[in-house]
This record gives sequence, structure tokens and C-alpha cells, in this order.
Amino acid sequence: MRVTVVSRSGREIVKGGVELPGSATVADLQEAIHKRTKKFYPSRQRLTLPLPPGSKERPVVLNYKKRLEDYCDGNQETITVVFKDLGPQVSYRTLFFFEYLGPLVLYPVFYYFPVYQFFGYKGKRVIHPVQTYALYYWCFHYFKRIMETFFVHRFSHATSPLLNVFRNCAYYWTFGCYIAYYVNHPLYTPVSDLQMKIGFAFGLICQVSNLYCHLLLKNLRSPDGSGGYQIPRGFLFNIVTCANYTTEIYQWLGFNIATQTIAGYIFLVVATLIMTNWALAKHRRLKKLFDGKDGRPKYPRRWLILPPFL
Ligand SMILES: NC(=O)c1ccc[n+]([C@@H]2O[C@H](COP(=O)([O-])OP(=O)(O)OC[C@H]3O[C@@H](n4cnc5c(N)ncnc54)[C@H](OP(=O)(O)O)[C@@H]3O)[C@@H](O)[C@H]2O)c1
Repeated sequence: MRVTVVSRSGREIVKGGVELPGSATVADLQEAIHKRTKKFYPSRQRLTLPLPPGSKERPVVLNYKKRLEDYCDGNQETITVVFKDLGPQVSYRTLFFFEYLGPLVLYPVFYYFPVYQFFGYKGKRVIHPVQTYALYYWCFHYFKRIMETFFVHRFSHATSPLLNVFRNCAYYWTFGCYIAYYVNHPLYTPVSDLQMKIGFAFGLICQVSNLYCHLLLKNLRSPDGSGGYQIPRGFLFNIVTCANYTTEIYQWLGFNIATQTIAGYIFLVVATLIMTNWALAKHRRLKKLFDGKDGRPKYPRRWLILPPFL
């Protein structure tokens, strides 16, 4: 089979095309393109079928597991595919590891080191118990996230654009320093003992629930990440689509009840907005996938992320 590989403007990416056996898969084609171009390794490539001129439809993205002949319209001898360079990629695990490593390492710097001297506070710093517990809570949270990244999550996409590492690290690292600065500040005023205990206890319950939600999500896919999207069931997923985000939001609420800083509450609001946006998209996707037609199950009625409001 002769495969012609063109860019979206119609320029040939591989001069003279690629010759492949009739049984070749899209993954074989990606390997062949990589061999010829050297630069574009498979996860950098997005291959689609060409659209008729002027068409406003979305192009069909070629699935790397499928055979090329599945995309041939009658003619099994030749096919044209449209190539897009997705730019340098990193694995999802690398992306998550670096974004979580920042807060895990930077937060303790504000607790253990005389950082505040650089900001003009020369007196002796008295450390309140809540600041120590906050350090443990924070580090447990990010350590848990790194462990989940390597041992729990089964990602459907192998890679993410390299630029996302810088964007996500900027978000997590900056907020980490911002919150750490205020919670560990020499002029920090602790909340009452009871409020601190309620906040941390509630937050910890939510962190454990969040881990359980991630284990339930993990079991929806096989170890190689295949299985697509399924209807999450069990525990809080029986009432809310994104129970993992719900527990994540509430565990930050627990942290903020215990530590009570404006910086912490700003992070809570921003994180809630981001996760709500994602939850909307995930809910819509599941409703579309499980529409109850042609033998497909119907997605049950559920809250999106924050019952009883949303
Ligand atoms: N504080 C913050 O700002 C913030 C923001 C975002 C996330 N988080 C935390 O980080 C965690 C991970 O975030 P995330 O956005 O990666 O979570 P996510 O997409 O909801 O899910 C985690 C894993 O489960 C898979 N999954 C989700 N729904 C599925 C379904 N219906 N069927 C099969 N597999 C499914 C996902 O697969 P895919 O690879 O296909 O997505 C992913 O591998 C969150 O749960 C939350 O605790 C925190």
C-alpha cells in the first residue's frame, strides 16, 4: 500500500510517500514516518484523513492500533493522510511528577529555613503546632499524588506537549510558595485548637476518599491503559460524576479551615474553577458516549462535581 503523507497545507512531508504491507497498522506508518523524517517520533504525530475542500467537519483522527486498510475507502492500494506536528512531547507521568515535585520540595523550605530574614523579619520565629501539622498534611498530599501518578492512574494519552510542563509547574509551584509563605509566616495567627482539629480531620478523610476514588477509576481500565471511558460506579461515584474532584476540593477546604489564609482560599477557588470546567466536559463526554441508543447503556442521572449545587 502506498501512503502519501501531506501537511495541512498540502505539502508532502515524506517525499515520494511510504510503501507499507497491506496489513500495516497506523503505528507502523508512524514508525515509517519517524524513520524517514528522524525528527517526528510517533507521539509527536497526529494523523487524520483529508477533508473535502471547504468542509467544516472535524477530521477523523487515525487510531494507532487500527489497520490502515480500515481507513481506505474501497481503494486498498493508496491512501493519503494529513500530518500535524504536535511539538515536543513528555509522558503524562513526567508532567505530573514535575508539577507535584515543586510544592512538595518548596513548602518545607519556608518551614525549615530562615527564609523570612530575607523579607526583613529579624526576630526569633515561634512555630505553632498548626504550622507543623500543615507541613505534614501538605507533604502527605503531594507525596500521595506522586505515588498515584506512578502506581494508580491509567492514562489514556501517553504524552502531553512539553510546554504544558512549564505552564503546570508555574501554577503549582507559584501557588505552593504563595501558601507556604503565609502559613509559615512569623506573624501568622493560628486558629483555635478545635477549628484546627476539625479542619485537618475533615481534610484527611477527604484525602483518603480521594485515593479510593482514584482506585475505582483505575479499575475501569486494563493495565495498559486500554478500555476507553466507562461509567464510574461505586462509593461517591454513585451520586457524582467527578467524585475525585469533589474530594480534592473538600480536602483543600479542610486544609483552609485548619490554616485559614487568604492565599489558601484563593487557591481553593482557582482549583475549584479549573476542576469544575473539566468536570463539565467529562460529564458531557460520558453522557454522549452512554446515550442509551443501539444497545449502549444510558448514563445515570448524577451531580457533576459539587452536590447539591452542581
Ligand atoms: N488542585 C488542583 O488544582 C487539581 C486540578 C486537577 C486535578 N487535581 C487532582 O489530580 C487528580 C488527577 O487529575 P486528572 O484531571 O488527571 O483526573 P481524571 O482525569 O478525572 O482521572 C484520573 C485518571 O482516571 C482516568 N479516568 C477518568 N475518568 C475515567 C472514566 N470514566 N473511565 C476510565 N478512566 C477514567 C483518567 O484517564 P485519562 O488519562 O483518559 O484522563 C486518568 O488516568 C484529580 O483527581 C485531583 O485529585 C488537582
